[in-house]
Amino acid sequence: MYGPMVGVEALKKIWMDGSLVDWDRATVHVLTHGLHYGYAIFEGIRCHATARGSAVFRLDDHLDRFLQSALIYRMKLGRSREELHRAALELIRANGVDDAYLRPIAFSGYGHMGLDPTPAKVQVAIAMWPWGPYLGQEGVERGVRAMVSSWIRVDPRSMPPQAKCAANYANAALAKMEAVAAGYDEAILLNGAGMVAEGPGENIFKVKRGIVGTPPANSGILRGVTRDSVIRFVADEGLEFQRNDFSREELYSADEVFYTGTAAGITPIREIDGRPIGTGDYPITRRIQARYESAIHGRIPDYESWLTYAREPGRAPSHRAAARPRH
Ligand SMILES: Cc1ncc(COP(=O)(O)O)c(C=O)c1O
Repeated sequence: MYGPMVGVEALKKIWMDGSLVDWDRATVHVLTHGLHYGYAIFEGIRCHATARGSAVFRLDDHLDRFLQSALIYRMKLGRSREELHRAALELIRANGVDDAYLRPIAFSGYGHMGLDPTPAKVQVAIAMWPWGPYLGQEGVERGVRAMVSSWIRVDPRSMPPQAKCAANYANAALAKMEAVAAGYDEAILLNGAGMVAEGPGENIFKVKRGIVGTPPANSGILRGVTRDSVIRFVADEGLEFQRNDFSREELYSADEVFYTGTAAGITPIREIDGRPIGTGDYPITRRIQARYESAIHGRIPDYESWLTYAREPGRAPSHRAAARPRH
């Protein structure tokens, strides 16, 4: 029924409202409420092939953020974290693909129009598909070119940036399109105070004289799970870390700048607004990238508690207070 998608390979199954359905049957009506008013929350999660089969990276931390987004938007999911945890693993097994991107989404469904979403029934789904690094493998290796957007990141006084709401991504799309139209790979958004916030779908870090820094969680960003992992990697590498606001010129004069995100992984930025960043080597970014790659593929025992293996359905959801995003 549906033709091919650009850059997305159709798999067999999608989990929708409590059961697995065929990929082509995971459909909605054109009067789906969330489609009209952006009242949808979602997540981006990855699973990776490891020696013990497919392992999901920080599944419960992503699901906690999903539930937090729902809470902020007063959206009643009617699904517990445990149910979504089991559904994600069941989906990976049903599709038989070890390396993939998982997209949980909840939205106000069909049956009601008008701005108050409360009467609309909420639908919940999880899809997955194989997906390479969002800014390309070449970007991960060689770095990408970024521009500071003329669009300001959604302001916390207007929309809560810490909720991963679909509506926020209209702001992200404007910034992304502007960057691409100007010949860049990706955007960097400033916040309402003119300080660096994040990318359209990535957090941002800079390195200056060996100190790794990132804007604080209250700077108008999504509190990234990868960002939190990188903060841990920085400590485990014995590097100094600073969580502080910084301006665009501090990005221009940084030794290294990189994006972090589930979709983008850890992608260096080699140029911002036509200015080369540092020497073009990324010694610290490379160390963080290497640690991240090893962690997600189950090669570092210290990060084992961040992995949930799809083949081990009996295991209770692994939640560790210590691994919750702290910054
Ligand atoms: C706006 C925004 N910032 C940052 C991130 C990175 O978050 P994470 O590392 O949890 O994928 C994402 C991706 O979800 C995002 O959409």
